[in-house]
Amino acid sequence: MNKINKDWSMPSLKEAQKRTNQQVAIEKTLFNIPTEALNIGVNRKFYLRTYGCQANERDGETIAGILIQLGFSQCEKPEEADLILMNTCAIRKNAEDKVLGELGSLKRLRKTNPDLIFGMCGCMAQEEDVIEKIISKYDHVDLVFGTHNLHRLPILLYQAILARERTIEVFSKEGDVIENLPVKRFGAHKAWVNIMYGCDKFCTYCIVPYTRGKERSRRVEDILNEVHQLVADGFKEITLLGQNVNSYGKDLEIRGGFAYLLEEVAKSGIERLRFTTSHPWDFSDEMIDVISKHKNIMPFIHLPVQSGSNEILKIMGRRYTVEQYKTLFDKIVAKIPNVAFSTDIIVGFPNETEEQYQMTLDIVDYCQFDNAFTFIYSPRVGTPAASMEDNISLEVKQQRLATLMKKTNYYAKIKNDRFLNKTVKVLVDGPSKKNKDVYSGYTEENKLVNFTKKDAKPGDILSIKIMEVKTWSMDGVIEESE
Ligand code: 5AD
Ligand code: SF4
Repeated sequence: MNKINKDWSMPSLKEAQKRTNQQVAIEKTLFNIPTEALNIGVNRKFYLRTYGCQANERDGETIAGILIQLGFSQCEKPEEADLILMNTCAIRKNAEDKVLGELGSLKRLRKTNPDLIFGMCGCMAQEEDVIEKIISKYDHVDLVFGTHNLHRLPILLYQAILARERTIEVFSKEGDVIENLPVKRFGAHKAWVNIMYGCDKFCTYCIVPYTRGKERSRRVEDILNEVHQLVADGFKEITLLGQNVNSYGKDLEIRGGFAYLLEEVAKSGIERLRFTTSHPWDFSDEMIDVISKHKNIMPFIHLPVQSGSNEILKIMGRRYTVEQYKTLFDKIVAKIPNVAFSTDIIVGFPNETEEQYQMTLDIVDYCQFDNAFTFIYSPRVGTPAASMEDNISLEVKQQRLATLMKKTNYYAKIKNDRFLNKTVKVLVDGPSKKNKDVYSGYTEENKLVNFTKKDAKPGDILSIKIMEVKTWSMDGVIEESE
């Protein structure tokens, strides 16, 4: 086994929840490759598996970019790898269980490749109970780093690979903004662009403010430089990312905040512009105006509601009422023609009564979401909700989830029905998962469409006539190429 390095830096959720008013540093020169780590990846392959949200996917692209600069090449199978890296998600327990199960089962590969390095990063790395488990029960994991120190990967890899030291470095701090990190984009036509990091909302069930630090924005000019480069490189779609994009720029006192940024990015000429996630609390009228004004901002909004009960929303710390959510929803519908909505909903929050749950069903009936991500509440160590007593059995929670999903699926299908026999614009992704002659892509409203390939190419935007409508997707035929 590797030597143990005494300089470990361990996570602390308690430290991670501290917030100051200090502006964070915007670091432009932090990434460099120390001499000892130069070429460390030459003749080595890495296998990267990313779990969870788009922020993690985007981090995965940075990690891959750094590894490629170090000389590594990427492989598709863990069996071929010299470095296996799990980029993890901590949002619910089942996400964590999956990673730990996978780490356990991949250990067998050490037998055929004794030099194989196992690494873990992402949100789970920020949790002290997880790290304690890794230290005591997963001694094949050589390298752990968190969400705040991707730029340190070269030196950490040097320690793990060449110095053969078990390396754990996780910072529990508010975080910085680190520019100029390498990136290997996984898509050729669709790109993620971080506009901010972290979260300050501290919803009582959520671990994200602890694992990703405080809300901090990138500068407008840095974002626009990245956007213009993507446009020049031929990207067709950009999604602006943040835990709460609506809070963009508050820390830097940027006038106009997210509405201003969104408009500036729209003016870049990118064909399709999306953004996620929007907190209903600070979704401004200016934002709605900007979205309705620019044709290249897609008419699709992810607006998590979480619950339909004011009492539950209050205990969740969501800072809006059902009435305020509905008013915002109606305002968006009135100003953005044919807008589509998706949402997130949690059932079985501690002590949620049958009546409170029914109110969640009511808001679904009211909004008739195009798509809903529905979850059973999962206690996260260190969050306020995790210490609340809970008198609802798992059985009841599962039943509530099943009934809710029936309803959300019903509306998903109804919402798709409006496209039957209509022509939609689809940005082509490429072959569908099941059949390589069937291509798929997404409409402006973020609906998945499958169609026969003909001469379509990934990255084309095609007019497709919808011939059949299902709950999760639609089938169509190409009408014309553009
Ligand atoms: N349990 C269940 N769902 C959660 N989410 C966040 N934290 C939890 C939790 N502890 C859901 C919320 C959020 C989405 C990304 O995940 O609905 O919007
Ligand atoms: Fe979590 Fe709430 Fe922040 Fe979303 S807004 S990341 S649910 S704390």
